[in-house]
Amino acid sequence: MSEDFVRIFDTTLRDGEQSPGCSMTTPQKLILAQQLADLGVDVIEAGFAAASPDDFAAVKAIAGVVKGSTVAALARCQQHDIERAAAAVENAEKPRIHTFIATSDLHMEHKLRMSREQVLASIAQHVSLARSLCEDVEFSAEDASRSDQEFLVKAIEAAIQAGATTINIPDTVGYAVPAEYGALFAYVKQHARGVENVILSSHCHDDLGLAVANSLAAIENGARQVECTINGIGERAGNAAMEEIVMALRTRPGFYGVQTRIRTQRLYPVSRQLVALTGSQIARNKAIVGENAFAHESGIHQHGMLRNRSTYEIMSPEDVGVPRSSLVLGKHSGRAALADRFKALGHELDEEALNRAFVAFKDLADRKKEVFDGDLEAIALGSSGDETGPWRLTSIQLGGRIGQGASPEAVIEMVHEDGRSVRQNALGDGPVHALFSAIEFATGFHYGLSDYQVRSISTGEDAQGEARVKVHAEGRDYHGRAVSTDVLEASALAFLEVVNSFERRRQFLAQSAAA
Ligand code: KIV
Ligand code: ZN
Repeated sequence: MSEDFVRIFDTTLRDGEQSPGCSMTTPQKLILAQQLADLGVDVIEAGFAAASPDDFAAVKAIAGVVKGSTVAALARCQQHDIERAAAAVENAEKPRIHTFIATSDLHMEHKLRMSREQVLASIAQHVSLARSLCEDVEFSAEDASRSDQEFLVKAIEAAIQAGATTINIPDTVGYAVPAEYGALFAYVKQHARGVENVILSSHCHDDLGLAVANSLAAIENGARQVECTINGIGERAGNAAMEEIVMALRTRPGFYGVQTRIRTQRLYPVSRQLVALTGSQIARNKAIVGENAFAHESGIHQHGMLRNRSTYEIMSPEDVGVPRSSLVLGKHSGRAALADRFKALGHELDEEALNRAFVAFKDLADRKKEVFDGDLEAIALGSSGDETGPWRLTSIQLGGRIGQGASPEAVIEMVHEDGRSVRQNALGDGPVHALFSAIEFATGFHYGLSDYQVRSISTGEDAQGEARVKVHAEGRDYHGRAVSTDVLEASALAFLEVVNSFERRRQFLAQSAAA
């Protein structure tokens, strides 16, 4: 690979997914992983395989389907972690084990309770174990930017000698500033023996809002892999945003003189896809993919733009896949227009999925005059929480006075796939409370809500409402999401999705224990 090529390592499914509000189910992770491969990402970090059986299953599933990109699994410098990572990626077309240990005195003393010598020995032992199981091994020196530089070089040399092929130098806590982080790469390049045989990588967090600037400084100083996430999601303030790094390199070729393999026209669709999957919204003014990123409001700017777009636009929206116009579809729109719009929004639907989506679209277009992008995203993702069972809601009735001091009543009917059918009523402080209580009584699921949100996903009086529900139960977060023109129905279905995911997980654990 030539010196001017920068590898894009995406950690949306690992560092991104572990941040609050961004967790995804395995099917959701699979959708995103395929989108990332299609985007042209060089390495997809699919997860931390040893974290739980679910995480392992998700990494394995991703490794089994992704073509074209390397699939990496994260592992601490521990035998069990490394063996789990190796097993999870063994079927990948291009597998990688990514192992890490902290090298700052602070972390070694207080977190690891290990001496410098012990950490060096652990690196040698575990990187060679990883290398015996996989040809492609990345080593990360966690908290590298706060590590003693001479010791960091020793740690890197130990990893290179043990067979690491990529060396990552993370700014784990987002403490570094660009000139300093760039100088760290220059220092490692100059002092670490064997460094010319490996790829140097950056991994930056955004605690001071410098993650992208630091990543670019690393590239200027020899990094040829950057670790980043879509929309910059990640631990605390997030990781470096992929779309910002890639577009900086592409917009300023004279300055950076490097290229990536990213199909930039897919950046916006993938960003939308991630928002739709996680419900984690982005700021309107977010660079590259925010709603206002290509909007010109002031008269002076508009005047300049009409004369020559480059007066106020350094990239064109088409370069990153932002649709020029927000086309509105209606009941006379055909399948081709629908398929086109789905594609622009990041959803490549196969024939069967498009047929189902077309039926749902026609049904919605009959109820609503205009169908907006938000409505289509809801259709593409499946909008009713009971689709996968085992419980299904067959009827919802609400009665009674609403308002202060009132106790409205919900009456629901539900069926279970094992043949049970239940009719249940409940009173609540409000209609949503009454509905959720009725579902709880009917199914026996009793866990407190940790989050409940309702929002409009398009515009107009007949806009559809999206409900999102989060419940913490038995050590895990369960998310439900549903869309309907009736927000109470959406809320009930979103809550039901939580109940169903919880029950399916119990069934899965019972089957695994019996096997
Ligand atoms: O921030 C960090 O240091 C990490 C490592 C595991 C690479 O995420
Ligand atoms: Zn990180």
